[in-house]
Amino acid sequence: MAFNRADFYDAELRRLDEHFRAALGVAPADRVLDIGCGAGQSARQAARIAVQGSVVGVDVSDEMLEVARRRSAAQGLGNVVFERADAQTHAFAAAHFDLCVSRFGVMFFADPLAAFSNIARAMRPSARLVLMVWQSRERNAWATAMQGVLGSQDGQAGKTPPAFSLGDPAVTTGILSAAGFASIDFADVHEPVFYGASVGAAFEAVAALFLAGSGPEVSGAAAEDRLRRLRALLEAHLTADGVLFDSRAWIVTARRDG
Ligand SMILES: C[S@@+](CC[C@H](N)C(=O)[O-])C[C@H]1O[C@@H](n2cnc3c(N)ncnc32)[C@H](O)[C@@H]1O
Repeated sequence: MAFNRADFYDAELRRLDEHFRAALGVAPADRVLDIGCGAGQSARQAARIAVQGSVVGVDVSDEMLEVARRRSAAQGLGNVVFERADAQTHAFAAAHFDLCVSRFGVMFFADPLAAFSNIARAMRPSARLVLMVWQSRERNAWATAMQGVLGSQDGQAGKTPPAFSLGDPAVTTGILSAAGFASIDFADVHEPVFYGASVGAAFEAVAALFLAGSGPEVSGAAAEDRLRRLRALLEAHLTADGVLFDSRAWIVTARRDG
């Protein structure tokens, strides 16, 4: 079966998502914004609770937005829409949202202060922000183990890869305070991520995610050696619940100041 990125993310993050969902605190009349919504699982979860309210999911990926729209329609959700928008610069309605959420969708901004300031403007005074972001790379075995086998995936040795850009609470607190947020808090989430039910399924997922064009070019004996080491790594992480890697994330909560 062809690799499905949306299904992979939802399955990969299932255990972390239980914590995130519990932290969202959606109320029935809330207007919710989901930033970097991808295939829209968090937006749909919010829409099922905000039955008198509404949910907007934004993303820059047409491919993911298409999946999000299809799945929401199939589930008969009439109070959620998905829009192509760059959250850094999009002209959202001012002071509109009661709750702004993001599951791993806010770490990739080129200018995080400008992006979070833009998001803050879209929120009503005292509206809540609930984010899930990775802690530092060193605390995420899925990243360090993959890098050990596949090499650096972003080609910038020594620099923090974007996925971990909000992993330092001091840095993130500085950005959010300057962007107009208060009561900033970090909750530690320590759960494994799921790569597949079998070594074969996990191998296929890693190949699609990390080896299809984005990683460093390797050919011949070096390529074979890398694939052999990858398979050995996945075998070492096979458990009764599938191939699991340790991970650590923050749930960041804050309120729009004012
Ligand atoms: C790791 S995925 C997470 C997707 C989804 N929230 C989930 O949990 O399955 C990150 C998403 O953020 C989106 N993204 C990255 N930069 C963005 C931006 N500036 N504005 C909106 N979406 C963005 C990407 O296109 C991608 O779909």
